[in-house]
Formats: sequence, structure tokens, C-alpha cells
Amino acid sequence: MPSEIEFASIAGDLAAKHLDELASLYAEVYAEPPYEWGPEHAELFADRFEGQRQQDGFTLIEARDQGRLVGMSFGVTLLPNTPWWQNLTTPAAENVTAEHPNRTFALVELLVRAPWRRRRVAGTMHDLLLADRIEERATLTVLPAAEAARAAYRKWGWQKVAQKRNPLPGSPVFDVLVKELGHGHAR
Ligand SMILES: CC(C)(COP(=O)(O)OP(=O)(O)OC[C@H]1O[C@@H](n2cnc3c(N)ncnc32)[C@H](O)[C@@H]1OP(=O)(O)O)[C@@H](O)C(=O)NCCC(=O)NCCS
Repeated sequence: MPSEIEFASIAGDLAAKHLDELASLYAEVYAEPPYEWGPEHAELFADRFEGQRQQDGFTLIEARDQGRLVGMSFGVTLLPNTPWWQNLTTPAAENVTAEHPNRTFALVELLVRAPWRRRRVAGTMHDLLLADRIEERATLTVLPAAEAARAAYRKWGWQKVAQKRNPLPGSPVFDVLVKELGHGHAR
């Protein structure tokens, strides 16, 4: 019988103490196809996380099975001068890319260890992360070849608005998705 997964929202200072666990989860999941990312990506993740955990709106949801970290999702509020809408490779309307304070929450990561998938771990973290947010909408980027993630985001009501080059080794092109928040955004 599957064990019970526990979910928790973790503040930025405690998140710093969990960095080794989070980075190890990141390295394990993104070593898989279609990503096949290595230590360079994991180091970038750890460096960026140190800044992200201190940003406005930072929220981290962890999923644990008997204490073991099996999933995580986190994001931050975009500032009006965010570089998020730079390096687009497709046109996007001004009303999509315009930012003002608290317009947009960026969902930076959502991942689950392979043996725990298809048990709604990601769906639960996603809903907890986006519940009661002050921002008007959320955005994320997803690799077009990441079929499971794309299927999940489609099911959860996200819509593609553009493509852009992400600040990762090789500058890969990702889809940029948006989801309106507010009443009725939870599934
Ligand atoms: C994407 C990911 C987070 C989904 O995690 P999960 O816990 O398995 O997701 P859930 O169980 O909540 O699934 C939600 C829905 O997504 C869809 N989905 C998830 N995995 C799928 C798959 N392999 N194929 C097709 N649809 C899939 C289904 O509609 C599913 O609902 P259902 O099980 O009721 O049919 C997980 O596959 C993962 O970690 N992938 C690698 C990292 C990644 O790509 N992260 C996204 C970065 S943008």
C-alpha cells in the first residue's frame, strides 16, 4: 500500500538549510531524458536558488515520504524590471510581456522523483503553490520535449504564449506558459 506523502510550505531561511537535499533531487530528476543535464546545471541551480529564496514572494513546497524529499516546487514574484520576457524567439503582445508590481508569479521549478510519479504529488504541490497568491497570473517555462510536464500543465489550465531561450548552458528554447490566477484558479 502506498505510504502517505506529506506536503509543507518552507520559508526562505529554512530552504537554505535544505539546499543539499533540493540540489540532489534536482540533479537526479534532470539527469533523465529529455533533459540529460549534468553537474553544471545542478551548480547553476544551487547558485540561483540562493538568490531566489530571498526574493519577494518566494514560496517553496516540499513533498516528503517518510521524511525523504520526493518532490519540490517553488517560485517567486516577478519585479517590474524582470528579464523574464527577454530572449523571446516568437512575438508576444505588449499586454502579455508588460509587468507591474505583483502582476506575475514565476513558477521556477516543479519536479517529482520518478518512483513517486502519477500519484498527484506534482498536482498537489502546484495547487498549494498557487493557492491564495496575490499576483494576477503565473508564468513558467517548459521544454517542448518534456511530455509529462506539458500534459500536466495542459490539464491544469496553462496556456502557451511564446517561446524563449532560457539562461542555461546552450540557451535551449522553452515554451513560455501563463495561467490566470484569482477566483477559481485551483483545479
Ligand atoms: C512533470 C512532473 C512534475 C509530473 O509529476 P507527477 O507527480 O507525476 O504529476 P501528477 O501525478 O500530479 O500528474 C498530473 C497530471 O499530469 C499528466 N501527466 C503526468 N505525467 C504524465 C505522463 N508521463 N504522460 C502523460 N500525462 C502525464 C496527467 O494528466 C496527470 O493526471 P492523471 O495522472 O490523473 O492522468 C514529473 O513527471 C517530473 O518531475 N518530470 C521531470 C521534471 C519536469 O519535467 N518538471 C517540469 C519542469 S517545467
